[in-house]
Amino acid sequence: MSNKKILVTGGLGFIGSHTSGALIKAGFEVVIIDDLSNSQLFILDNIKKISGVKPAFYKIDMKELDKLADFFNTEKNIDAVIHFAASKAVGESMEKPLKYFKNNIFSLVNLLDAMELHKIRNIVFSSSATVYGDPEELPATENTAFKPALSAYGSTKQMGEDILQKVAATGKIDAIALRYFNPVGADSSALLGELPIGTPNNLMPFVTQVAAGIREKLTVYGNDYDTPDGTCVRDYIHVTDLAAAHVKSCERLLNSKVENNYEAFNIGTGNGISVLEIIEAFEKYNNVKLNYFIGERRPGDAPSIYADASLAAKVLGWKAALGLREMVTSAWAWQKKIPELTS
Ligand code: WQD
Repeated sequence: MSNKKILVTGGLGFIGSHTSGALIKAGFEVVIIDDLSNSQLFILDNIKKISGVKPAFYKIDMKELDKLADFFNTEKNIDAVIHFAASKAVGESMEKPLKYFKNNIFSLVNLLDAMELHKIRNIVFSSSATVYGDPEELPATENTAFKPALSAYGSTKQMGEDILQKVAATGKIDAIALRYFNPVGADSSALLGELPIGTPNNLMPFVTQVAAGIREKLTVYGNDYDTPDGTCVRDYIHVTDLAAAHVKSCERLLNSKVENNYEAFNIGTGNGISVLEIIEAFEKYNNVKLNYFIGERRPGDAPSIYADASLAAKVLGWKAALGLREMVTSAWAWQKKIPELTS
């Protein structure tokens, strides 16, 4: 689908940058808003390197209404928005809940307001498997009940979906919420990837930093869970597959296929993988040794979460194509490239 213009908020972040590249490759025009709070400007050039086109870029914090208004008065004829711009550190969200409510909720409401004013109908929302909390059933389907959120971050994803559903019910917008499981990996070019600020919270960037010698050792948070090897099980999904799900979602929105104005999809592989399996795969496929030890459980971790992703296959025509090998090798290739890119 060509000539359609997509606004990608948070388009220089981890998932946003991969999605921007994938959209351009699929023939879309991409415009990016990002406040650079958790991303770097060189990523814009790297999107050009992988896709051939440098997207228009606006440095805007979406809480600033004046700047947002100026943006929408300048960039006309936007066909759809993919809204990634949000804060995403679970631990920080417990210490600074108001930061998360302001960044994640105000920005979404401001965006929806502007979309209504400018008659932009279509939005893809970055949701998360975190909306299920510690799910009552596995695999989690889109109908699995939401449990009370365990973090302020999780609350903002539940609220975000609720806000979108209520606005969609007016018939003024069509929305697709994508509930990501555990995004990992990097573009095969090693020009895009995750750039954590400070000590990483998530497993894969911690693993790659230990392999690179930036951190001394990895702590495996508990091996006494009721899982096959005692360590927690997650549904890791390659960011390239995740980006493809956004392209499919845009196409569905632009073809006016969304039923009852709102749809939500699980975006995962459907395979549960343990922490020890990640470590083993990383060592084997990258031929490196990881310094790790078994530590205490991390408070708030659910023993096991993985997706039933069959609805996305049936309705979106999307399925994960990349496996554990591509996840760990691309993550490592990216980690080795970071010093050169950021120097
Ligand atoms: C994965 C597994 C840890 C670090 C979080 C958010 C979720 C989503 C993805 C966006 C767990 C274990 C980790 C370490 C470890 N984000 N681990 N040692 O907690 O499943 O999900 O990120 O929406 O909302 O909650 O991801 O990468 O932190 O942990 O043993 O140093 O790795 O216990 O089992 P999590 P994670």
